[in-house]
Amino acid sequence: MQLPFLLTLLAAVNCSSESISALHNQQLQTVLDDLIERNDRPTETDWGYFREICSNRKKQRHCAEIFDYFHTVLVPLEFPQVPTPPVMWSDWYGAAMPKHGVVPHYFRDTRTTQTFGDDSQTIEGDFMIVSDGITRDPDSDFFSFQIVEFLRVTLPRLNRTVSVEEELYRAAKAVEELLVEVRLPGAATLSAAYRRDNTLYVLTLGDSEARVVRDGQVVYRSPRQRTGRKHEQLAAHRPDSVTRMIIDAIPIQADDYVLLATDGLWDNLSEADVVAEVVGTVKVAARSVMERALQAKEGKRQCIRSKDGDKIDVEECVGGRRDDITVLIAKV
Ligand SMILES: *[C@@H]1O[C@H](CO)[C@@H](O)[C@H](O)[C@H]1NC(C)=O
Ligand SMILES: *[C@@H]1O[C@H](CO)[C@@H](O)[C@H](O)[C@H]1NC(C)=O
Repeated sequence: MQLPFLLTLLAAVNCSSESISALHNQQLQTVLDDLIERNDRPTETDWGYFREICSNRKKQRHCAEIFDYFHTVLVPLEFPQVPTPPVMWSDWYGAAMPKHGVVPHYFRDTRTTQTFGDDSQTIEGDFMIVSDGITRDPDSDFFSFQIVEFLRVTLPRLNRTVSVEEELYRAAKAVEELLVEVRLPGAATLSAAYRRDNTLYVLTLGDSEARVVRDGQVVYRSPRQRTGRKHEQLAAHRPDSVTRMIIDAIPIQADDYVLLATDGLWDNLSEADVVAEVVGTVKVAARSVMERALQAKEGKRQCIRSKDGDKIDVEECVGGRRDDITVLIAKV
């Protein structure tokens, strides 16, 4: 089984990188076309081949084709529930500003996964997902994109007869297993808010945070999954990270705002500053929150120390941080 593969690698030594790429591409197409035609799962050999491609940072374009196959064939096999029409938010809106950007991007109803800097996100009828790539890894934008895109196609297919928490866990576990299996380089956080009727399920792995705001008050605050500079993340070299994912269920009602944002926002602004802007239409709210975050960049970083009971000092800092910022807001 290994031999044809070794021969390919040996033959490649004297080839130009273009012809290697063409050869690989042709081989990959054959493998994928066959799997798609048979509507089948990969064999051990196929997995080895996928790993060879996806673990190579230079073959991202080919790896993307493998993930496309996961979305169109593997996801429906693992999540056979036919997508059900969602109970929609009444409105939703998003804003994103990459670290080195000049003007923020605003969007609604994109039905795709977008990447700004290392942050990838999507916001749709009944869910929103964000993944923040770990900046010091050059491939974390591709990595965060694949996490969000996988969940974007999977969440509408959750089995409606099983508990939502179990199904959300199964979906997150599935994407982690794929990332580990193909050894995709990179690391990224994962947070999502998913609505089922009048309950909001918030999934947290890492330091993106969600809030539910009702009449100007925060009625739900997702766990701050970070200690100092360390935070949880998905990464191929850290299997079983999803076991540390937290899933909360929160009752929601009409006119509640659901807000999900990466640490680029929460590092820059206090919760009170953010919540003060969450009024009016979601479009106005998202734009106001983003504008306030951008103003904060002009300011100096300020830290306030306070006692947390009789335990250690807690330091809360705002302003003066450079990072990608993503803000997603929906109104119930
Ligand atoms: C949903 O889960 C139930 C219980 O495990 C199972 O019997 C059923 O086949 C599943 N439905 C789909 C569409 O996956
Ligand atoms: C906050 O986010 C913006 C957008 O990335 C960034 O330019 C700025 O440096 C960050 N820090 C602050 C405090 O704004």
